Amino acid sequence: MGFATDAIHAGVVPDPATGSVMTPIYQTSTYVYESPGKSTGYDYARTINPTRSALEANLRVLEGGKAAYAFASGMAAISAVMTLVKAGDHVVVSHNVYGGTYRLFARVLEDYGLAFTYVDTSMIENIERAVRKTTRMVYVETPTNPIMILTDIALVARLCRERGLISVVDNTFLTPYLQRPLDLGADIVVHSTTKYLNGHSDSVGGAAILTRDEHAERIKFVQNSVGAILSPFDSWLVLRGTKTLALRMPRHEENGRVVARFLRKQPKVRKVYWPGFSDHPGHEVHRRQATGFGSMISFDLGSLEAAQRLLKTVRLCSLAESLGGVETLISHPATMTHAGYTQAERDALGIGQGLVRISVGCEDAEDLLADLRRALEAV
Ligand SMILES: Cc1ncc(COP(=O)(O)O)c(C=O)c1O
Repeated sequence: MGFATDAIHAGVVPDPATGSVMTPIYQTSTYVYESPGKSTGYDYARTINPTRSALEANLRVLEGGKAAYAFASGMAAISAVMTLVKAGDHVVVSHNVYGGTYRLFARVLEDYGLAFTYVDTSMIENIERAVRKTTRMVYVETPTNPIMILTDIALVARLCRERGLISVVDNTFLTPYLQRPLDLGADIVVHSTTKYLNGHSDSVGGAAILTRDEHAERIKFVQNSVGAILSPFDSWLVLRGTKTLALRMPRHEENGRVVARFLRKQPKVRKVYWPGFSDHPGHEVHRRQATGFGSMISFDLGSLEAAQRLLKTVRLCSLAESLGGVETLISHPATMTHAGYTQAERDALGIGQGLVRISVGCEDAEDLLADLRRALEAV
């Protein structure tokens, strides 16, 4: 089936009890057994829930994996995937991953004996150099947040296969509509479903999509053991969200292009980070591995004061963390999404005080430009 058909139908079957076309929200904690020791296949809702299972099947098909598991947040999904490595193991990570991912790795998992090396994964030799005897995993985001550094997924996946390492790609920014890392050879995809997959800024969730049976078995076990499951209602919301993914993403994409080109022409904007520009480092890699550039854009206004003036003046764009909703969200990475890094770490990553990130939504592009034009006048 085509992507749009899968997005609408995969995992969704008429409800066996009523024929309901939409997957019901099975808001239950438990299920009646047929007899002692004989359940219907559903015993307890942490372990299995039909609404969640429908979403998991949908995401499995959209990413082209063997199994998918839905979690209470993107961070919960990433935490579950990190249980595939153990104390003493080492992980190579893209050097400007989402701040919360860095915080989990540096401030939580290091305490449990895991070691991490952060490198610019846009250059494969950096990964090769960082690999040690104890390395078990390479974890990449592409594009990275907020500087839009691009990593060649197929190259990383090949290196990992040759060295017996697990390759993980956070595909939150592009979604399987624009990029399918598993088709490029990656082992695992993680998502914050909070973003484009749900698409309406009304649910926090996450997912891991796996290709190897042993990983799938372990993550299913961890999902049940740790219990950071996605609720039935949130599962239903995300399932409703993915149905329109193939409609929303082209609009995000088109609006992203219009806003990026507009920003680049503005004298007060020093630099615009958007993978769609032909002079963006890695543009060719991105064109090879993805079918679009997404609607995440960062731009540098040169100073904290300038960024604050713009962010205080916008009206249509909401000053908020998060991304991927139908409404345009604008944020200040240094004090918001990337506050988990120290100033020195942010400086090393190029996340200056004047950097503004925008998640371009699905509004009329002219209205967005008018809002940004007016806000830039205040800078
Ligand atoms: C790229 C990326 N990965 C993971 C996460 C974490 O997801 P959540 O906020 O759903 O826990 C985020 C959140 O912003 C993100 O941007």
